[in-house]
Amino acid sequence: MRKTAALIMAAGGGERFEGRESKTLHPLLGRPVVAWSAERFAANRGVGSVTVVVAPGEEDRIRKILADEHLHSIERIVPGGSTRQESVRLGLEGLDPSFDTVLVHDAARPCVTQSLIDRTLAALETYDAVVPVVESVDTLVRERQGVVDAVLNRGDIAGVQTPQGFRAELLVRAHGHAHAVGFSSSDDGSLVLEVGTTVRTIPGDRTNIKITYIEDAMIAESILERQRR
Ligand code: CTP
Ligand code: MG
Repeated sequence: MRKTAALIMAAGGGERFEGRESKTLHPLLGRPVVAWSAERFAANRGVGSVTVVVAPGEEDRIRKILADEHLHSIERIVPGGSTRQESVRLGLEGLDPSFDTVLVHDAARPCVTQSLIDRTLAALETYDAVVPVVESVDTLVRERQGVVDAVLNRGDIAGVQTPQGFRAELLVRAHGHAHAVGFSSSDDGSLVLEVGTTVRTIPGDRTNIKITYIEDAMIAESILERQRR
C-alpha cells in the first residue's frame, strides 16, 4: 500500500454557522467536531500521518483539545490561511516527502466513515485524483434576478464531498499553479482539473454531511449516535 498522509482542514471561520465558537470546535455528543473528524483518519490503518490545519494562533489550544480527546498520534498542527485553498497549500508545505498520496478532508464532515476513507484509498491505488460524489436530490436551476434561467440536467450534476485523494506531487503542483496564476476554488479537485489531470469520481456517502449551518449540527449528532450502535 502507498504511504498516505491526511490533512484535516479546520482553519475556517464558520461564518454561516453563526456560533459563538468556531464550528469545528462545536461539541457533538460532547466531543468537538474536529476531534470526530481527525480521530477517524488517525484510526485508519492506511493513513500514516494526520495533520490538522487550524486558524493561526489556535495551534496550542487545538493541540490541547486533541490531547484531551486522547488523540496523541496527531502531532502535526499547522496554521492555515484566509481561504480554504490557502490553508490546504500551507498544510502541504513541509509535509514529509515520503508520502506518495494525500487525503484532504473538511473537519466540518465529522460523520465520515472508515468505509469511505477505505474506498478513497483503494481508488488511489489506480487513479491520481479521486473525489467522492453524491447525487443531488434537489432539482438544480440557474437563477438570475429572481427568475429561473435554466433547469440543469440532474443526471449531469453531482455534489462533491471529502475526503478527496491525490498523488501528493500532483496536489502540490496543482496548488502551486493555482497560486501562481491566481486561480481560486474551495475544492481541491478543481485545482487538479486546472492542470489537466483527470479527476475520478467514486460513490460518496449521504451521511457524510458538511456542517455548514447550525441545524446541520443536530443532523450530525443523530448520525453519530446511530454510528455508535
Ligand atoms: N477551511 C480552512 N481554512 C479556511 C476556510 C475553510 O481550513 N480559510 C476549512 C473549514 O474549517 C472547514 C472546511 O474547510 O472544515 C470546509 O469549509 P467551510 O464549510 O466553508 O467552512 P468555513 O469556511 O469555516 O465556513 P463559512 O464558509 O460558513 O465561513
Ligand atoms: Mg467557507
